Amino acid sequence: MVLLVGSKKVKTAVFISGTGSNLKSLIKFSKLKNSPISIELIVSSNNKAKGLIFAKSFKIKKKIFNFKKNTLVDKKLISLLKKNNISLICLAGFMKILSKEFIKKFKGKILNIHPSLLPKYKGLNTHERVLINKDKYSGCTVHFVNSRLDSGKTILQKRVIIRKKDTSKTLAKRILMQEHKLYPKAIKKIFNL
Ligand code: GAR
Repeated sequence: MVLLVGSKKVKTAVFISGTGSNLKSLIKFSKLKNSPISIELIVSSNNKAKGLIFAKSFKIKKKIFNFKKNTLVDKKLISLLKKNNISLICLAGFMKILSKEFIKKFKGKILNIHPSLLPKYKGLNTHERVLINKDKYSGCTVHFVNSRLDSGKTILQKRVIIRKKDTSKTLAKRILMQEHKLYPKAIKKIFNL
């Protein structure tokens, strides 16, 4: 559980790799008066990530890291997060694996959103696999990050009904709409709001 000290908002970093629609919804949420977070930093694993436009439009600091060179990145990333007094990290469409050491350092302070009803369909291509298996439902999950992929404690889930005509594209789109509501709700929940 992350603690809210006084009325100050918790300084948060959002990690992205792509479009950043969850980032945008988190930024909008952070601007609400009763939101427990303020987004101070955007970290991207990809210098071409579309989501980086939100750094400019919302005047938020951004930094791009090459997550391949792990140990060096860890050091630089940790020092950047410390410098900015970051105490919560939200992974939002972040497609890289964080090192065990990094996760240990921020234990209980890293959240992720995943487009399936975990523990089902960890990893990539969730929608394709759900459709191949002819599941009736899919959905999305916000969870704490631990050292095993998509396996940390669940905070909240939202179920989405699969339609007969669904393709992975239409399903992804409907689930993404729910993700935008679920992430803020899950953040409120960890702050007992
Ligand atoms: C979202 O559906 C998110 O759940 C998923 O990538 C998409 C990113 O969209 N994340 C993962 O698959 C993580 N393993 P966005 O960039 O528009 O927020």
